[in-house]
Amino acid sequence: MKLTVINGSPKGKRSNTKLLTDAFLNGYHKTFGNQSKEYFLSDKKLDAELQRDFIHAESLLIAFPLYTDSMPGMVKEYFESLENYKSSNPGIKIGFLVQSGFPESYHSFFVARYLKKFATLFDSDYLGTIIKGGVEGIQMKPAWMRRKTLKRFEKLGFMFGKYGRFDQSIIKKLSTPVKLGRFALGFFKFAKIIKLGNFYWDYQLKSNNAYEKRFDKHSI
Ligand SMILES: Cc1cc2nc3c(=O)[nH]c(=O)nc-3n(C[C@H](O)[C@H](O)[C@H](O)COP(=O)(O)O)c2cc1C
Repeated sequence: MKLTVINGSPKGKRSNTKLLTDAFLNGYHKTFGNQSKEYFLSDKKLDAELQRDFIHAESLLIAFPLYTDSMPGMVKEYFESLENYKSSNPGIKIGFLVQSGFPESYHSFFVARYLKKFATLFDSDYLGTIIKGGVEGIQMKPAWMRRKTLKRFEKLGFMFGKYGRFDQSIIKKLSTPVKLGRFALGFFKFAKIIKLGNFYWDYQLKSNNAYEKRFDKHSI
């Protein structure tokens, strides 16, 4: 079965999303040759091509980062652009990947409900939603720290190529932890007390020359 991957990260080819879909595709290509296409919503001039692809696609993996407990605007725009294509490809297999910065997969459960509904509205064969938390900074981590996650994505892609379904046991492992346990929560509380809680965010703000503007508000 041919697979189309839609990457909905504004960071496009530099995104964490791509790191995960690359691993998925590595596994998929082992069972299904090179039968995949990849689109980046950050590549602005895609509208017509994406709609055409949607009509003819056999299976679709729509992957994006969680943004403010939902999705990047360009993903919403893509969904809305398909409004007139609702019954144009019944039975198309649609699956999603939502990856987030915070470690708890629970944050993504609510957008996953929307995604399931979206897939149903399009008369598709809904494959499920892969949820992975704790992806913030993954590209800065040494290879050994991300190996387990990438191997799981690779296996998921392999199984998808072989059986045309998402393996639920791998999805379950990827979505752990759903919520942080008492020990981890205690650690974060302690980090906040010793003012370590904002270290990473401050570093990001400083490296983007935005630290001084961190309390700015948009005035109406
Ligand atoms: C504007 C913005 C909003 C975000 N909102 C959330 C959020 O609500 N929850 C969360 O866990 N992570 C959030 N994140 C973190 C991203 O989901 C995370 O860094 C992700 O791995 C980025 O993926 P990408 O490189 O594919 O864009 C947000 C990041 C940005 C830039």
